[in-house]
Amino acid sequence: MKQIVKTALRSLGLEVRRLRRAEPETVEDFVRAGRVPWGCGYNAAKDGLIAAGLANGALLEVFRVGGALPAGYGVAIDERCVEYPWLFAQLRPGAGRVLDAGSALNHGFLLEHPLLRDKKLHIVTLAPEPECFWQRGISYLFADLRDIPICDDFFHNIACISTLEHVGCDNTAFTHQMAHRESRPEDFGKVMLELRRILRTGGSLFLTVPFGVYRHFGSFQQFDSRLLNRAVTAFGNAEIIPTFYRYTANGWNVATEAECATSEYVGWIADAWKVGKLPQPLPLEVDRAAAARAVACVRLIKL
Ligand SMILES: C[S@@+](CC[C@H](N)C(=O)[O-])C[C@H]1O[C@@H](n2cnc3c(N)ncnc32)[C@H](O)[C@@H]1O
Repeated sequence: MKQIVKTALRSLGLEVRRLRRAEPETVEDFVRAGRVPWGCGYNAAKDGLIAAGLANGALLEVFRVGGALPAGYGVAIDERCVEYPWLFAQLRPGAGRVLDAGSALNHGFLLEHPLLRDKKLHIVTLAPEPECFWQRGISYLFADLRDIPICDDFFHNIACISTLEHVGCDNTAFTHQMAHRESRPEDFGKVMLELRRILRTGGSLFLTVPFGVYRHFGSFQQFDSRLLNRAVTAFGNAEIIPTFYRYTANGWNVATEAECATSEYVGWIADAWKVGKLPQPLPLEVDRAAAARAVACVRLIKL
């Protein structure tokens, strides 16, 4: 039980990494424990699935073209298992300046990937995180995405993965600073303008947000079609390439925007993000959903 709590806290970004390293959990633990999202072995299973996907050229090609995923892909795993492969599938080898707007790439196993290793990566987020990889040459800038202190046309590509939905919301679970308890849900538009400004013409913004029925959970909002259109419109003149993924009991797969429109985020985990504490015992959804049940992945090429 103690181990389950430690794992779950780590999933919430809390500082229990030292404890976890002493007793590493495994994918086998996840299977043995009944594949419970956020439970024992969850992080090992999630990171393992993502790492395997990023090393699998055939699977990345499926993500690149928006094809159907293998049956059962990502059962009981949250949306990062589609967001990362979708992003990496579209990055090209070689040098270039990349911005991670929101710090979703700040994980050792992602930063090691050859597609990132050769690039100059800058991470902009509100506050330092327990894990930091400055030794690898990653540049960290603790700043607000609504007012980015970087010159125009600087980046070749920008990734904004599962971040836009947090802008202007209660970010105290990430930063522990009361100034970041906000209620300005419209501010994502300012971020879109800023991301355009610092992106070169011809460069891509890779944007993902949880998608479906509109919800405001306090620490983030789930985007619906109306909000997504507003974000895309705020970015301005661009080639727009949207892909939607939906979660069912059979795992994640590509879907239409209309099919995703009724998707519901797992409410109890949204509440847990807010307070930084998981409920015990952990609830289990009938479809084993971990968090979002749909995600919008939009590539915007600046024209
Ligand atoms: C992508 S998540 C957390 C990142 C974490 N490393 C992970 O992979 O789960 C949301 C991030 O968005 C950041 N964020 C929210 N609003 C922001 C803003 N206005 N400017 C910069 N960062 C913001 C939060 O600080 C948080 O780190």
